[in-house]
Amino acid sequence: MRLAGKVCVITGAGSGMGRVASVIFAREGAKVVVADVSEAAGNETVAEVRAAGGEASFVRADVSREADAKAMIDHALATYGRVDCLYNNAGIMPEGDHSVIDTDVDTWDRVMAVNVRGVFLGCKYAIPAMIANGGGSIINIASFVAILGCSVPQDAYTASKGALLSLTRSMAVQFAPKGVRTNAICPGPVETPLLLDWLVKDEEAKRIRLARNPSGRFGKPEEIVNLAVYLASDESRWTNGASLVVDGGISVNYF
Ligand SMILES: NC(=O)c1ccc[n+]([C@@H]2O[C@H](COP(=O)([O-])OP(=O)(O)OC[C@H]3O[C@@H](n4cnc5c(N)ncnc54)[C@H](O)[C@@H]3O)[C@@H](O)[C@H]2O)c1
Repeated sequence: MRLAGKVCVITGAGSGMGRVASVIFAREGAKVVVADVSEAAGNETVAEVRAAGGEASFVRADVSREADAKAMIDHALATYGRVDCLYNNAGIMPEGDHSVIDTDVDTWDRVMAVNVRGVFLGCKYAIPAMIANGGGSIINIASFVAILGCSVPQDAYTASKGALLSLTRSMAVQFAPKGVRTNAICPGPVETPLLLDWLVKDEEAKRIRLARNPSGRFGKPEEIVNLAVYLASDESRWTNGASLVVDGGISVNYF
């Protein structure tokens, strides 16, 4: 098992890639702290992990709130005694997020609060705990839109994911000497509720997204999580500060 004995905090673990990550991480031997703003969804993930024979514990946390972020890490320490990995997966892509010229300030601020402040706060409390324990791995989930312009814009979301790539590099440099590695994953469009709920309402966006993808399909959650397993494990002990794109080839496609 590639994550035997590791304690991994996964945010946004009540749905999509976070839920699949919880199940796969537990299968690889991790003790998983399932963190989500939705108690019902988080508890369902824990039940799924346990049904598959894994170990998991739920903590309700809105990652944009400092008290919740602190409580999330305290929960991991109280339940399992350490934190080896913080998997910053929680993210939102609300309907009102369009171009800079037609997005309202509240939508912009909400996206930044969850997608950027949420990562900042999780790291603020997890990194000292990791250092005290000899090191750890931070995984930040950005997006392919952090490195590409998009003709169907979601500018708050795009800017928030770009911010994570800069933050990843800065933290990677600061904390590697203390044993904490930080890397980012930039997934292409993956079949999860976040993407499917949105595309169902926008056939044109769906058509454009598939036409640009040389693999001809959307990704599956496990195709992203498999990379996260590597980053959480000791196999990646010299991987630090990387922004790793997993997108079926979209970002290398000229036409
Ligand atoms: N699905 C895609 O195509 C895609 C592509 C690139 C990047 N991503 C990123 O991957 C991550 C996971 O996406 P997904 O598609 O699995 O999403 P999802 O919507 O299926 O799941 C997101 C989970 O995050 C939780 N959440 C939302 N706000 C939260 C908060 N403030 N605090 C704690 N939990 C919160 C939700 O309750 C939900 O359980 C996100 O960061 C997303 O931006 C997704």
